[in-house]
Amino acid sequence: MARGIRIVGAGAGADATPPPSTAAKMWSGRLGSSTSRRVEEYTIGIAVDRRLYAEDLDTSLAHLHMLRSVGLVSAPDARTIETGLREIRREFDRNEFVIEPGDEDIHAAIERRLFGIAGEVAGRLHTGRSRNDQVATDLRLYLREHVRRLVLAVADLETALISVAEQNRGVAMPGMTHLQHAQPVLFAHHLLAHVHALARDVDRMRDWDKRAAVSPLGSGALAGSSLPLDPAAVAAELGFDRPAANSIDAVSDRDFVAEFLFAAALLGVHLSRIGEEVILWATPEFGWVRLDDAWSTGSSIMPQKKNPDIAELARGKSGRLIGNLTGLLATLKGLPLAYDRDLQEDKEPVFDTVEQLIMLLPAVTGMIATLGIDGERLAAAAPAGFALATDVAEWLVCRGVAFREAHEISGSFVSYCEQRGLDLPELTDDQLAEVDPQLTPEVRGVLSVEAALRARSSVGGTAPARVAEQSAQLIDTVHAQVAWANAKPGS
Ligand code: ARG
Repeated sequence: MARGIRIVGAGAGADATPPPSTAAKMWSGRLGSSTSRRVEEYTIGIAVDRRLYAEDLDTSLAHLHMLRSVGLVSAPDARTIETGLREIRREFDRNEFVIEPGDEDIHAAIERRLFGIAGEVAGRLHTGRSRNDQVATDLRLYLREHVRRLVLAVADLETALISVAEQNRGVAMPGMTHLQHAQPVLFAHHLLAHVHALARDVDRMRDWDKRAAVSPLGSGALAGSSLPLDPAAVAAELGFDRPAANSIDAVSDRDFVAEFLFAAALLGVHLSRIGEEVILWATPEFGWVRLDDAWSTGSSIMPQKKNPDIAELARGKSGRLIGNLTGLLATLKGLPLAYDRDLQEDKEPVFDTVEQLIMLLPAVTGMIATLGIDGERLAAAAPAGFALATDVAEWLVCRGVAFREAHEISGSFVSYCEQRGLDLPELTDDQLAEVDPQLTPEVRGVLSVEAALRARSSVGGTAPARVAEQSAQLIDTVHAQVAWANAKPGS
């Protein structure tokens, strides 16, 4: 049974054949004998899908309003049902709703309770509706709302990264490739690279939302309905752009789940990459950042330890998010149209991914916002490992030397220094000429980190002016993301 929620009366010993369930089923007209308890235990999904209660009540209300307006439910009956649905919402909100054995899923549980509160009139609510179009609608609603919460949490992290970047504006660091010193870059430039990745995650979710804004209600089990329903009205009330154009697709499509899980898994991968760098940077070997005490953990045996657990969990949880995506894709593969019960397995990965990210994002944000940055150590490391060698080659290119030859000369310059334990700027005029006569003393003009940074003024480059532009643009981007996420779907 999922996630430790025990359903009263649902257990049975391994050997005993449990008695059949006594609960009346939605299909009791067709299937004579009651469902075996074993079947119930196996098929039941409520421990997981009870998270959809608010969305299920929303879709039921919208459906009810439509039934009343097209005349399929009378106004007094609609009022009784609506009162019942509102009472059920109160019970859930106060955690007082009682799940009973035999409540197969959230839809069945709510309908059972509605009968208890409103009496026989409750039987009119399911007119022109199937759990197949109902569950697909509920899940779209749930995800559209939670995607907005995730975007706000990502925006907080982007803001934290941008402000650390702004607070350390002029700080240089060693830019790395292959985790080896490559070229000096601004620390802010590096942090903003992570913000760009996160901004694409948000873009992806916003783009996802356009495709998710389709309402399956009105599709029924799969074929549509012979009743004079008004699916467009239901769609509009729930904030969707339009009703689904194909009822078979509407009840069997879970692309919106797979796409969401992909966008979330990639976000997880980005958090993992940020986490990995924080882990490295916080080691004494790097010593570029210090974790705030409140955002790290200690060891039960080694008193001196301060561990980057948040960063490690960011790295670790990305595996789980990827697993949720691949698990769902495996569930979908080979499913014949239209609805199959396999589709019930879409919920656990969705809820797990959402819940993990809702916990993880604020933790990563807190860790980043409170990070102590050792700007001096970063700056001191920036030119190490002959990181200015490319500047020498490009200086030669500007003097008419072909790049391949310039690369050779600069390479000899590095190995000359390496053999003598010197750094590039330390060579005398004679030594420079000994490496290559084209290395005139003016080359020293490019042998500083400041010069190297300033020179990289190409679009997106590490020059301070370019980085300041990026930062300003990203601040605007984050504002737009927050405005989008705060607006209700369909508004
Ligand atoms: N709990 C089911 C799900 O999540 C709801 C739809 C069930 N429909 C059915 N015909 N059995 O997919």
